[in-house]
Amino acid sequence: MFLWGTATAAYQIEGATGEDGRGASVWDTFSHEPGRTKGGQTGDVACDHYHRWPEDVALMAGLGVNAYRFSIAWPRVLPQGSGQVNAPGLDFYDRLVDALLAAGIQPVPTLFHWDLPQALEERGGWLDRDVCALFADYAAVVAGRLADRVPLWITLNEPFVHMAYGYAMGLHAPGRTLMTGALPAAHHQLLAHGLAVQALRSAGARQVALTNNCTPVWPASREEPDVRAADAYDVLHNRLFNDPVLRGEYPDLSAYTPALDFVRDGDLKTIAAPLDALGVNYYNPTRIAAPTGDGLPFDDAGVTGFPTTAFGWPVVPDGLRELLTGLKARYGAALPPILITENGCSQEDVPAADGTIDDAARVDFLDRHIAAMRRAMAEGVDVRGYFVWSLLDNFEWAEGYDQRFGLVHVDFETQRRTPKRSYHWFAEFLKGQNTDT
Ligand code: FCB
Repeated sequence: MFLWGTATAAYQIEGATGEDGRGASVWDTFSHEPGRTKGGQTGDVACDHYHRWPEDVALMAGLGVNAYRFSIAWPRVLPQGSGQVNAPGLDFYDRLVDALLAAGIQPVPTLFHWDLPQALEERGGWLDRDVCALFADYAAVVAGRLADRVPLWITLNEPFVHMAYGYAMGLHAPGRTLMTGALPAAHHQLLAHGLAVQALRSAGARQVALTNNCTPVWPASREEPDVRAADAYDVLHNRLFNDPVLRGEYPDLSAYTPALDFVRDGDLKTIAAPLDALGVNYYNPTRIAAPTGDGLPFDDAGVTGFPTTAFGWPVVPDGLRELLTGLKARYGAALPPILITENGCSQEDVPAADGTIDDAARVDFLDRHIAAMRRAMAEGVDVRGYFVWSLLDNFEWAEGYDQRFGLVHVDFETQRRTPKRSYHWFAEFLKGQNTDT
């Protein structure tokens, strides 16, 4: 069955951050620090999904999706990151899973979408190797409860973005600015993934995947310094997170670090445990030029000549085909089936006087990206699912509530949900799909 779904993440939609025994996460801390997010916005309430989930499941049932990718908040299940399990937190996801199944929607949980328990941040966060084993313990707790009903699991969401934004540049929680000193946070996330694969399988999980953010990398010119810089960027963004998992080895990281002294014997074997699928999040390509001197071996030259989203991200549907066929060319038989675990765009989405939201640009975006995915499939890439980011407008991290990605509009004053034109378009589209292929 081809999975057609929508995607969300816990901190971006749940709210209820202080309820029913949930512990604090790095995003609670970070978003409450002055100047970290636009307008000082936080996920304290977000879409209030923790209370309104039945309405949100009904919206998905109305849409006609057969899958839903959501994330589980580690600090809701284990408030201190390890030790005492918080039963109400686990009960929440248990109820959600049952409601999804009753609506004919396959639950696809992600175990880590950036909301590390604050208690673990205090011991070093992803710079602390011990957190890897604690993640596997957490995975075992959740799967112990849900694996009888959840066939497909995703360990981590976008370890690249978490490393780069959270540990290198300080734009996301936990707000560290280590630049290349952030590399251990990559390795430890990958090791945590590998250990969690084992824990999930032991607890009865049938299928396990990892979601990576991938981007086609375009050199700004054919000149050798630009081509070399583009290659260095490709190593950091794509290969650093795909090579160890699919090939059991790191790419040449000498442009970034003299030695991989945080990698221990046996780690790569753990990281390379076979997967049932690779989750790919695609938003746009990246254009790279030779470095200008800030210490990194590349410079982001910006993609020009394409329309942009409200975020300013270039809209390049064929980049998805290029990315998928590129993965197949690079990894060959080692590439597992692919799930597009996120794809979507932010738009202004101002309701008209009659309350409707005519997000024609999002309809066009989705239509053209799905077509590009199908071109890749026709070229031999085994794609098994496509998830729109996102079901609801939500807390877009450092951008707060300004960037709206939803098929469903959320009025954050009243929590009123209004399906946009793209929701109705996607519902019609899904009616025409044969989900067996
Ligand atoms: C991805 C994140 C997701 C959302 C989209 C727009 O990088 O995984 O949470 O913020 O971008």
